[in-house]
Amino acid sequence: MKTLKVNLDRKTNHSYEIHIGEEILDRMGMILARNGWAGRYIMITDNRIDALHGDRVKSALEKCDLRVDRIAVEHGEASKVIGTVLAVTEKLTALGADRQTALVALGGGVIGDLAGFVASIYMRGIPVIQIPTTLLAQADSSIGGKNGVDTPSGKNLLGTFYQPKGVFIDIAFLRTLPDESFRSGLAEVIKYGAIESPELLDDLETAAAAGALREVSFLERIVTAACRIKKGIVELDERELGLRRILNFGHTVGHAVEAASGYTLSHGESVAIGMVAAATLAERLHYLPADDRRRIVSVIRAAGLPDRIPGNLDLDSIRSRIARDKKKEGEIVHFVLLKKLGTPFVNGGVPAELVKETLEGLRQ
Ligand SMILES: NC(=O)c1ccc[n+]([C@@H]2O[C@H](COP(=O)([O-])OP(=O)(O)OC[C@H]3O[C@@H](n4cnc5c(N)ncnc54)[C@H](O)[C@@H]3O)[C@@H](O)[C@H]2O)c1
Repeated sequence: MKTLKVNLDRKTNHSYEIHIGEEILDRMGMILARNGWAGRYIMITDNRIDALHGDRVKSALEKCDLRVDRIAVEHGEASKVIGTVLAVTEKLTALGADRQTALVALGGGVIGDLAGFVASIYMRGIPVIQIPTTLLAQADSSIGGKNGVDTPSGKNLLGTFYQPKGVFIDIAFLRTLPDESFRSGLAEVIKYGAIESPELLDDLETAAAAGALREVSFLERIVTAACRIKKGIVELDERELGLRRILNFGHTVGHAVEAASGYTLSHGESVAIGMVAAATLAERLHYLPADDRRRIVSVIRAAGLPDRIPGNLDLDSIRSRIARDKKKEGEIVHFVLLKKLGTPFVNGGVPAELVKETLEGLRQ
């Protein structure tokens, strides 16, 4: 088992460790028992993950004499809303949860964001432990303390920055992950390769060619690499005031494509298209060499992700969503572009006409 430390503001002492390995639940139980973060634990999960892994996680903790209850919500993004926050809160109160209680978020990004948000506001904040079970959550969303829920006007509009006490990444969970969700997670890993580590892209291409994308040793390597990059960025800019924005590479167009598809495209598929769009914009603005753009496209294809906008999507709807992007400041939409692989920067001066032409060029 590897351990990475996320070093944050020493005054508030909310640094924490990310533990990564295969079949680490027993060791997790021991670490929780030793740290004594809470007198009891309440697992927040979704019905699918609960059926597959809930009992195993609960008994691993109980073996270490920890008291564990669980609350399962319906799986899927539709649960990431304020109604679920209230429902979970009611159940917490019914279970007698107090400030000596910690939440254990067992699940993908939806559960991580939901449980993290509840933990940050329940009785003005109780500890939360993250146990991510999707590739996206293991490589990205469980680290960094961003959480929140969607509202009818947009995704993640209500939320807080609230760091977990610890993150336990058991690669074994990924065995049961459906292909579509797996590919979605690969898109975020490709993002880390593009913004920080071209070697990660080499690793991914080699594994794809060898049909080894779901091998444990490969997964452990890419998850560790992604966590290391994310923790480095979060340590420098915990609250996304500057540098952390580079994590949105591919997301400006990605979010717009995802919404314009009525969420029929997954987040990962949309981000893949968004990364190709960002790379194309960067090339056309004479920052990114054509070879680097081609490289991004080829890794995206190797991962089984789309590199073109489906012909049935309305480009005007994508463009108006880009203009409404919540990272927009004043009238300027900020794009994360690349100068070369591994060198991202935020650019607020991309002409709208170029965005239009690029989207048209990427249409199937
Ligand atoms: N906080 C952040 O920094 C951050 C970053 C990126 C994304 N996100 C959020 O993450 C969410 C998406 O997360 P996701 O892609 O993990 O989706 P998800 O949490 O909805 O999980 C996808 C599906 O896979 C199932 N599942 C989870 N683990 C499984 C396993 N091991 N085996 C079988 N099935 C499993 C779930 O039940 C669900 O149906 C979005 O809401 C997004 O906004 C947050």
